[in-house]
Amino acid sequence: MSEITTTQTGTPVASDEHSLTAGPNGATALHDRYLVEKLAQFARERIPERVVHAKGGGAFGTFETTGDVSAYTRAAVFQPGATSETLQRFSSVAGEQGSPDTWRDVRGFSVKFYTTEGNYDIVGNNTPVFFIRDGIKFPDFIHSQKRLPGSGLRDADMQWDFWTLSPESAHQVTYLMGDRGLPRSWREMPGFGSHTYQWINAAGERFWVKYHFTSNQGNIEIDAAEAEIIAGADADHYRRDLHDAIEAGNFPSWDLHVQVMPYDDAKNYRFNPFDLTKVWPHADYPLIKVGTHTLNRNPQNFFAEIEQAAFSPANTVPGIDISPDKMLMARVFSYPDAQRYRVGTNYNQIPVNAPHAAPVHNYSQDGAQRHGFNSPSTPVYAPNSVGGPAASVEAAGMGSWESDGELVRAAATLHSEDSDFGQPGTLYREVFDDSAKARFVDTLTGQGCSITVEAIRERFFQYWTNVDAELGATLRVTVAAVLAA
Ligand code: HEM
Repeated sequence: MSEITTTQTGTPVASDEHSLTAGPNGATALHDRYLVEKLAQFARERIPERVVHAKGGGAFGTFETTGDVSAYTRAAVFQPGATSETLQRFSSVAGEQGSPDTWRDVRGFSVKFYTTEGNYDIVGNNTPVFFIRDGIKFPDFIHSQKRLPGSGLRDADMQWDFWTLSPESAHQVTYLMGDRGLPRSWREMPGFGSHTYQWINAAGERFWVKYHFTSNQGNIEIDAAEAEIIAGADADHYRRDLHDAIEAGNFPSWDLHVQVMPYDDAKNYRFNPFDLTKVWPHADYPLIKVGTHTLNRNPQNFFAEIEQAAFSPANTVPGIDISPDKMLMARVFSYPDAQRYRVGTNYNQIPVNAPHAAPVHNYSQDGAQRHGFNSPSTPVYAPNSVGGPAASVEAAGMGSWESDGELVRAAATLHSEDSDFGQPGTLYREVFDDSAKARFVDTLTGQGCSITVEAIRERFFQYWTNVDAELGATLRVTVAAVLAA
């Protein structure tokens, strides 16, 4: 026999098909507790969607450290032979819940490592750079990519107005409008930590690092026409692809590499190494393999395990810290702030966010939806003389640049290659092959035509002329031809 339906408090209920009424056809009785509970629960099923990266999917996996980077970090998760359980979430940036996976966009690439020293999150994208370099511009940038307040429509004028007034966006926009803006699946794209992070070894020496996840499925893209067809036919194309692959035992994996910059190089590098709009050439800082990340288990409950998952660049572990990148510093505040609102004060007690292998001891208590608690004899204040948990600088092992203003100032002083347009020009001229260039011009022609304000379209031409003079001239011709037709 199947189980008997109950209320949330375990009492058996009489019917899921008929409300309690006064006589067979009379008014519905308010004291039908199950009806009231069922409707009340239903009305509260939603939590706010993520303010960005709302549409996504994810899976659980394992990270195995196969390389030896112990000279650069003391983090337990990256010591040779270490394995950790992981959670990964992929996403689009601008689209809401339910928006088509194959709309052109940057893709989120978040990994949570449940390490023995607490949770470590790398919250990155499938591109190594970003549109802006100061967190104060982030809300404006996102507003310009989402919807007009009046009509609720997305708007090319608004998008290009922001981009062309923010020249630091050129590198990321070149990625986005190129083939990499349309991956075939989440499995077949790379991931990047994007920012510069700090690693600290057992001797306390510090290094600057960038993370690269390279897909063992290859990097495969689709063209704009195909993406549009899929968007109409199956809005959940990426989510389905990941789920079905894992269900079939076809586990996707990525190799994690780092670029490592010695601490003092930051002072006099060719450009500011903390600038999120730049990549570090591999010739200067080659990739060093750390290990392999494999996804092998689908969530059992999408809401509980993926929707409520809270990734944050603030979640670091001893041996890993942030850097003086202004974007990163803003993010470290913003994610836990967003999650306290989106999921609730005690969001880190939800199983998917709680550490697996590290105990939690601190002096925070209570708050909405609290369910984990310390033993009754644990003191609730610090300092105390009755054996409560004690903080330890040595155990925390964090690095810092705070006392090294000279390094930060030197890094931020203008260097020969700080220009906004240098690296996007190289990407277009030297990385895109001829057919990729042709698709890029095609996409940009469509974008140029969708701008309706003449002054913004003029800035659009100027922006691409700054990236590459010939490209700018070509776009003037192709856009004019389409508009005249
Ligand atoms: C200062 C700039 C930024 C701010 C203020 C910001 C803020 C946010 C916020 C509030 C969320 C929602 C978090 C949640 O509700 O769980 C989010 C999600 C996300 N952001 Fe950012 N963001 C910034 C820049 C970036 C950058 C540079 C990257 C990539 C390199 C990035 C990647 C992501 C990803 C992947 C997610 C989704 C995480 C998940 O899968 O749950 N963001 N961001």
